[in-house]
Amino acid sequence: MIVAANFKTNKTRAQTRDYMDEVNAYIRAENVKSEIIVFPPSTAFDNYGQGLTQGAQNAYAVENGAFTGEIGVDQLKEFGIKTVLIGHSERRHILGETQKEIAVKFNYFKNLGYQIVYCIGEKLETRELGQSALLAYIATQLVDIDLEYENLVVAYEPVWAIGTGLVPSTDDISQIHADLRAKTSKPLLYGGSVKVSNMVEIVALENVDGVLVGGASLYAQNFCEMIKIAEEV
Ligand code: PGA
Repeated sequence: MIVAANFKTNKTRAQTRDYMDEVNAYIRAENVKSEIIVFPPSTAFDNYGQGLTQGAQNAYAVENGAFTGEIGVDQLKEFGIKTVLIGHSERRHILGETQKEIAVKFNYFKNLGYQIVYCIGEKLETRELGQSALLAYIATQLVDIDLEYENLVVAYEPVWAIGTGLVPSTDDISQIHADLRAKTSKPLLYGGSVKVSNMVEIVALENVDGVLVGGASLYAQNFCEMIKIAEEV
């Protein structure tokens, strides 16, 4: 199982330090075997020691240079970061990243051997058009993405389920994950309003290899409970 926490634009460096210390202590004490990834804001990048993997929520496809407001590989290397989230719906729909830009980023970090957690997911209006429209839309988010890249993790996150408390039915998650499984052998995460109380039934589904969690991951104790659930699958 993979359990990943996406802090988004939350937490300071000091808050992140406390969180990482607590989660790392849990991982060591419980001898956790699952892969635990935390994506803090880039201002909180640091060396957090053994246990969880620190990832970047975003990075620009450069080593360094004149790209105001962005971070590149040099800034990731300083903290030994080799995991990057690409294609998150907030970057697609709020920050306006196009599939073309996302694919450039994907291929850049792929060529450097980074672990890539690649996010896809539809808006509610697409889901309401039915299964074939939904799958056709998902296919547009996979254009120019190497689905057999060895360090790939795919996260299916319906936009309408992110931060809303709404979650697709287990049947709906199963169907999408079965479709994705036909396209890739790599780990498949579900994301969108995952919390302690609904995680058990989600991770029990075939073709769900873990979760990507936003809001419910922000409390270390909560996140550790989710790690416990993953360990028991
Ligand atoms: P959420 O966010 O768990 O708060 O719905 C998930 C995500 O955006 O990765």
